[in-house]
Amino acid sequence: METKRWFAIDNLQDKQEAIQAAAALLKAGEAVAFPTETVYGLGADATNELAVNKIFEAKGRPQDNPLIVHVATTQQLKELVSEVPPYVDKLLEAFTPGPLTFVLPSNGRCADNVTAGLDSVGVRIPDHPAALSLLKQAAVPVAAPSANLSGKPSPTSADHVWADLQGRIAGVLDGGATGVGVESTVLDCTQPIPIILRPGGIAIEQLEQVVGTVMVDPGLANEHERPRSPGMKYRHYSPDAPLWLVKGSADKLQQVVYKESQKGQRVGVMAASGTIARIEADLKKDLGASLESVATALYDALRMFNSQHVDLIICEAFSEEGIGQAVMNRLKKAASHYIE
Ligand code: TXA
Ligand code: MG
Repeated sequence: METKRWFAIDNLQDKQEAIQAAAALLKAGEAVAFPTETVYGLGADATNELAVNKIFEAKGRPQDNPLIVHVATTQQLKELVSEVPPYVDKLLEAFTPGPLTFVLPSNGRCADNVTAGLDSVGVRIPDHPAALSLLKQAAVPVAAPSANLSGKPSPTSADHVWADLQGRIAGVLDGGATGVGVESTVLDCTQPIPIILRPGGIAIEQLEQVVGTVMVDPGLANEHERPRSPGMKYRHYSPDAPLWLVKGSADKLQQVVYKESQKGQRVGVMAASGTIARIEADLKKDLGASLESVATALYDALRMFNSQHVDLIICEAFSEEGIGQAVMNRLKKAASHYIE
């Protein structure tokens, strides 16, 4: 399949044409990648089972993992669900459009393969002008997982999508690099108290400010306790080389780097600016000074080390405050080893 690439960055005229062309293919039942504020999504008409199947095929995604549905307005979100608790109205008001996915009781309007047979559906309104314009023009709810091959780091640029999916999908709408860099927070809103199923772009502290108590899925907490050598089941977002997560000072990171380099390994290091400045290694990636910039740079860094053929990637462990919780969740899943 020849994959089209439309540019939605430059002048407004071309941008509208690009978005129209992408919307037309979405409506016609094709799988099309598009930018959001978090990562690129691979979209298809969520009411069309055959179209949604193309997503699973292109990504090599297991069929039992449900997809997030993207819509442009709160009204459209409510058209897909059978019940909206009052706290969801508050969260919608506070955080949409934005990186927050609401898991709510489904009314069955989406195809069965979107929800993987569950009676709930995850829906969000992305905070990205090209995505919102695309969703309005397509005029259908759009199911979209991250637009990477299953198991690879999520794509934060159209080049990342191209590297993974070129030839496997109908097109890519190129809106430049995404901003947040980690995926949306997935929040189970089918219970009296909301439960975080996946930490993401909206931090638990932010949610608590609006609705008071927020719970965290016990499955996530367990993972925090046993992150040493996660089995295949827990490995996602994987770079090609093994990734070690190291907690501690720059000196401690440097010791690990020396030790592994002496074994003849080519070692890459990724860390925040303050740490990376004090490290010597074959290849270094500065993730920026704040947790926000670390989130933005994370997946691109993992992909960069792939293309540079390092034998081992060593990454600094970050604080789990704010968006740090999402960053550490992804890193622990990617890591084969955690040195605390
Ligand atoms: O930021 C994002 O959320 C990106 C962009 C493209 O919007 N999308 C994304 O989709 O990360 P994906 O498919 O890579 O991750 C969706 C997550 C999975 O962990 C899935 O299990 C969960 O959301 N999910 C979706 N629907 C669900 C449901 N009904 N119940 C529980 N979990 C659900
Ligand atoms: Mg994904």
